[in-house]
Amino acid sequence: MCGIVGYVGPRDSQAILLAGLARLEYRGYDSAGIAVIDADGDLELRKRAGKLAVLRDDLQAHPMPDGTTGIGHTRWATHGGPTDANAHPHLADDDKLAVIHNGIVENYADLKAGLLSDGYTFLSETDTEVAAVLLGHEYRANGGDLEGAFRTTVSRLEGAFTLLALHEDHPGLVVGARRNSPLVIGLGEGENFLGSDVAAFVEHTRNALAIGQDQIVAITPAAVTVTDFDGDPVEVEPFEVTWDAAAAEKGGWSSFMAKEVSEEPEAVANTIRGRIRDGAVAIPELDGLDDLFRDITRIIVIAAGTAAYAGMVGKYALEQWARIPVDVELAHEFHYRDPVIGPNTLVVSISQSGETMDTLMAVKYAREKGARTLSICNTQGATIPRESDAIVYTHAGPEVAVASTKAFVAQITAQYLLALHIAAVRGTLPANEIADSLRELEAIPAKIQHILDTEQERIEQFAHWMADTRSVLFLGRHVGYPIALEGALKLKEISYIHAEGFAAGELKHGPIALIEPGQPVFVIVPSPREAALLHSKVISNIREIHARGARVIAVAEEGDAAVLPISDEVLHVPIAGPIFQALLTVVPLHIFAMGLATAKGLDVDQPRNLAKSVTVE
Ligand code: M6R
Repeated sequence: MCGIVGYVGPRDSQAILLAGLARLEYRGYDSAGIAVIDADGDLELRKRAGKLAVLRDDLQAHPMPDGTTGIGHTRWATHGGPTDANAHPHLADDDKLAVIHNGIVENYADLKAGLLSDGYTFLSETDTEVAAVLLGHEYRANGGDLEGAFRTTVSRLEGAFTLLALHEDHPGLVVGARRNSPLVIGLGEGENFLGSDVAAFVEHTRNALAIGQDQIVAITPAAVTVTDFDGDPVEVEPFEVTWDAAAAEKGGWSSFMAKEVSEEPEAVANTIRGRIRDGAVAIPELDGLDDLFRDITRIIVIAAGTAAYAGMVGKYALEQWARIPVDVELAHEFHYRDPVIGPNTLVVSISQSGETMDTLMAVKYAREKGARTLSICNTQGATIPRESDAIVYTHAGPEVAVASTKAFVAQITAQYLLALHIAAVRGTLPANEIADSLRELEAIPAKIQHILDTEQERIEQFAHWMADTRSVLFLGRHVGYPIALEGALKLKEISYIHAEGFAAGELKHGPIALIEPGQPVFVIVPSPREAALLHSKVISNIREIHARGARVIAVAEEGDAAVLPISDEVLHVPIAGPIFQALLTVVPLHIFAMGLATAKGLDVDQPRNLAKSVTVE
């Protein structure tokens, strides 16, 4: 939440900052602002409530002097509403100092009380302005040492924060700090960048440095220095960004979500690529973990939102293939309920962004309790993998739309690989069955592509007809259950329609009371050929709701004749084994949610009230 960008170098910074903010806008879009030190050495500020476009238009209509040192911010509001006054940057030290912030300063009220009693005044309701005023105070107190003042300031802040600051007395310098919130450095030629993630600067450089926890960075055009909060130098890890700027562009697509749904086949294929050798899983990141995989007695998967639903799907694979008990926990619930974990517990976190605060806190907590941690993550240099003992990256490429789609199928794919690898290590599945499953996994991208090629248009048309629907239910069994939850979440998130997902077997224990004539119900139908028993159970569930007048939309295997007489609409998927079917049945649901939101004229990429990276608890 909140996107941050910083630049120092020979070029005028406004265009660079605005382009960086455009790539970070998925992190929040309540307001946007930039501050630059202009050619005369004066600090210039412009900030506006609303999306980045409002700021852009304002700058176009009323140009502001440019300069070669600047910071920019796009906000997801926490303290104070989305107003011009609450927009970042915030100023201090007689408007010579500008500060931007991502996170929450938890002790801001105490700090503010102290500063008020010292005679300082505030223009906004934000915690960030408190940090800015405190920094200005420390700067005056130490005689103008910006880095020193920054160190003293961040040491007094509690909570989670990435802070960037610049001061007009120090052109060519941007300082930053991070605690539990992301910040990466982009290394250019005679210029350097800071960003909430690499998207902020990937069009200028793919050479990056990941800053660790509780570290401070100072960038000038010629140098980057990183220290801890005590001022001691620290080593930082260089990495090369594996994707280029074009991957984070919309291209010719109507939305990022449309582009990302179209990339679902590729997301699965890229997550598998190079990781299967001679019919076995070969993931270098897992080398050396065999003893751990043999010794563990339990796996707990922690995640939030769509990533948690991916975890629920993964549970079926891990338990069936690797024969280890698996619990899937919402990260925010796990952390605060004293769970029973220890050295024989493997805690697997799943996160597209690698920055979700709930998940990060749960990972840290699990480590403190002695558990081993493995992160499944899509974002290089992110915090969660850095805080984990092992990492398996998904290779879905940058996901920009707030609604997670291609990352979801990649997260499931990574878990299937992990489950088959652990099964091999523990000897719970014969080698030939592992090889068969891997072959089936490798066939999935083409099957997803087939759905996109043959069903997408029809599903979008169907979604269009349903644009006035007020409530939609989703039912599924086995892996179809988390897919039902995912279908419902996606619809709520981008179309603002009430939607609920249920385990189909749970229907008769209460939710069936919701069925009235015309109620649309999506039902995820297992394969009649690969999962005959499950299929017959779901067919019975469909009969129960059909008999009560529900409008049944079946997501079913091509050629499934049993669904036809009891469904009003059938969305087809190719044949796949019971576990693999999750990777197919979700695709029509993603298309449907996108189609319906589009039909309602909504912004599918930036739904109201949301941000992509949820970096507050
Ligand atoms: O970055 P993460 O995967 O950790 O994000 C977790 C959730 O916030 C995320 O999946 C959210 O539920 C999506 N917006 C759903 O589409």
